[in-house]
Amino acid sequence: MHAKKMKTLLVTGGAGFIGANFVHYWLAGYPQDKVVVIDALTYAGNIANLDSVQENPNFIFSHGNICDTALVETLLKEHKVNTIVHFAAESHVDRSIDGPDAFIESNIIGTHSLLKAAKKIWIDQPKEKGEQSLPHRFHHVSTDEVYGDLGPQDPAFTEDTQYAPSSPYSASKAASDHLVRAYHHTYGLEVTTSNCSNNYGPYHFPEKLIPLVLTNILFDKPLPIYGNGKQIRDWLFVTDHARGIDLVINKGRLGECYNIGGINEWANIDIVKLICKLVNEAFANQPNLATRFPLAKKAIRGNAEELIAFVKDRAGHDRRYAINPKKSMTELNYSPIETFDSGILKTLHWYLDNKAWWENLLEIK
Ligand SMILES: NC(=O)c1ccc[n+]([C@@H]2O[C@H](COP(=O)([O-])OP(=O)(O)OC[C@H]3O[C@@H](n4cnc5c(N)ncnc54)[C@H](O)[C@@H]3O)[C@@H](O)[C@H]2O)c1
Repeated sequence: MHAKKMKTLLVTGGAGFIGANFVHYWLAGYPQDKVVVIDALTYAGNIANLDSVQENPNFIFSHGNICDTALVETLLKEHKVNTIVHFAAESHVDRSIDGPDAFIESNIIGTHSLLKAAKKIWIDQPKEKGEQSLPHRFHHVSTDEVYGDLGPQDPAFTEDTQYAPSSPYSASKAASDHLVRAYHHTYGLEVTTSNCSNNYGPYHFPEKLIPLVLTNILFDKPLPIYGNGKQIRDWLFVTDHARGIDLVINKGRLGECYNIGGINEWANIDIVKLICKLVNEAFANQPNLATRFPLAKKAIRGNAEELIAFVKDRAGHDRRYAINPKKSMTELNYSPIETFDSGILKTLHWYLDNKAWWENLLEIK
């Protein structure tokens, strides 16, 4: 946390997985700041993710779409926002393969709508009145998937790795990164971008690998693994991502991109086996879990791994992502706090303790 001047943030997509964790993190660490959330509450957005901050007088929620430029302009003006933290996006690769249009709309057009609104309110309108631009920051949250696919021996992605997105999701994120950069170079908008590896933790929508596996075990449902399960991802606990964004906003250089990651590569199949082992152990150590989750027959017997089921691979599935966070570590003094052991246990216990939260969402899937 940094003792900085008071900020008013507009957090886009703040009812989603990472956005909501970020809002909790920020309001706890900077209680003097104001946080305005804009979220369209798509299937992945969930107002319940923000329940614990609803009563906070410094929290404001606006149910709206970032493509609605007029609404964004109103929020920026009305609340005197000086910092945008842009999470809102369609984020699930499988869904982008089935229907790319929503990804183009929210991730590209939506980002451009925000950039236009920010430029108008922070730069153009003051200049029309002969005044200086308002102090501002536009922080764009992106992904390591824009860099494409790595072979087993390739070095991890740095900020200089050439963009080579493979899916409609990563292509739309890459396009948004370029637009953010262009608004900096062309119009002087004060931007930073962070590219992060796979996140996990509380409030993760149960269609993504880790919560899917956890919740399926509790219902004794198959654990689907694409292809041979050897695809490698680099995992970071979501609060460590929030801390990284905090550092970039407060210490990052304008116009720069920063990779945020935990140097924590895992093959999908190994993660699934680890989760099975941890759930088996939790059931063995806490007898009341068998009463609370009576359907979890295999976990109760200590053999959740038997639920693993290999399924046809995803089209164009990238083999490996790995992020090199050296720049944020040296320049911003960033390092993750959670180890994978501590983070995954926290996540497991959060899902065990918050059944009502994820059970509601399973009906949407
Ligand atoms: N999940 C990861 O592992 C990961 C890793 C790196 C980067 N990211 C990036 O972080 C951001 C957040 O990811 P997430 O996993 O929390 O996603 P998420 O799908 O859980 O949440 C996205 C949120 O954005 C909202 N949203 C979508 N389109 C919108 C629109 N047009 N207007 C307003 N709100 C809209 C949704 O309602 C939802 O609340 C995304 O930009 C994603 O690309 C995610």
